[in-house]
Amino acid sequence: MGFVCRAVDLIYRTSKVYLKVAAQIFFDFVIIYNTMSAVLDMMPKDVVALFDLLKEKVPADAMYLILGLWIIRCLYSVLDFIYDHTLKSPKNLKRSYGEWAVVTGATDGIGLAMCKEFAKNGMNVVLMSRTLSKLEDKANEISEKYPNIEVKYMQVDFSKINQVGVRNGIDNFLSELNVGVLVNNVGVSYPFPKYFNELTDSEVTALTTLNVDATTWMIRLVLDGMIERKKGAIINISSAAGVLTSPLLAQYGAAKGYVAQMSRALHYELKSKGIYVQCQVPLYVTTKLAKIKKASLFVATEAQYVPCIIGVFRRL
Ligand SMILES: NC(=O)c1ccc[n+]([C@@H]2O[C@H](COP(=O)([O-])OP(=O)(O)OC[C@H]3O[C@@H](n4cnc5c(N)ncnc54)[C@H](OP(=O)(O)O)[C@@H]3O)[C@@H](O)[C@H]2O)c1
Repeated sequence: MGFVCRAVDLIYRTSKVYLKVAAQIFFDFVIIYNTMSAVLDMMPKDVVALFDLLKEKVPADAMYLILGLWIIRCLYSVLDFIYDHTLKSPKNLKRSYGEWAVVTGATDGIGLAMCKEFAKNGMNVVLMSRTLSKLEDKANEISEKYPNIEVKYMQVDFSKINQVGVRNGIDNFLSELNVGVLVNNVGVSYPFPKYFNELTDSEVTALTTLNVDATTWMIRLVLDGMIERKKGAIINISSAAGVLTSPLLAQYGAAKGYVAQMSRALHYELKSKGIYVQCQVPLYVTTKLAKIKKASLFVATEAQYVPCIIGVFRRL
């Protein structure tokens, strides 16, 4: 049964790529040809005349063809979505990326939920966070619930990531492991929205160090191994504040904007090396950081949010 599903999956995916490209080229050609010839004829006249000319120039048959292709494309997207969420066999994460998932800021909120979800999906997990007692507790909790996976933890204060000694410590710890997935989750926001000049110096430093520097250095620490093994994945947790303009959260938004831009560029840079980079831009999740306790239509709990991330990740 597994073999049949994989065969159907392969045939479907291959045909999908060719069909999509062929439809796209044809569709674009028809539009460009008709529009250009109409525009060229039209140059000296006014805009109303342009529409008349378009109607005249583009034969009804071509219009129906364009409409037909557009409808096919829409149907295709719907089928694609249904297929992705039903027939397509989800990836085995360990086989596809590697043995270990490393999660920063792993003892609470989104990071902890990530660790649990990776463990549930059969990956060994490394928890990295700053409070030792919480690390021990959470690592035990995960080991007890998922006895077939290995759990390790490392106490790291990411506010010290710019110290070479701290980075060397992480490097030594990870060098023994086949790191398949890195989740750059650790981060800090404002205690509450305020003007940039009202931030304390230590808040300014933490915003850059925890959101920008920790993400950057952690990627560098795992990347060589992933490139050598020709596989791996990096999930960076940015924020909606990083892609929207966010007054009163200016530095947080800017730091998360860095994470988003870096992720996008790395995605293309590393694709050919077998490494997949994903960036998450959550709005509100009910964690300590967000200071929101109740879920609602627009606010998810971490237990609702994280399985969606991993679900998409497994069906890539
Ligand atoms: N929650 C949201 O609504 C939301 C929205 C958009 C983006 N995000 C982003 O999602 C990520 C996770 O946020 P969250 O809401 O899950 O946060 P959270 O519940 O506050 O958890 C933060 C985690 O990071 C650890 N941590 C904090 N400072 C650290 C440091 N200096 N060194 C090592 N570990 C440290 C904490 O460990 P300790 O327990 O030891 O402090 C904890 O495990 C952040 O990057 C955040 O910007 C969150």
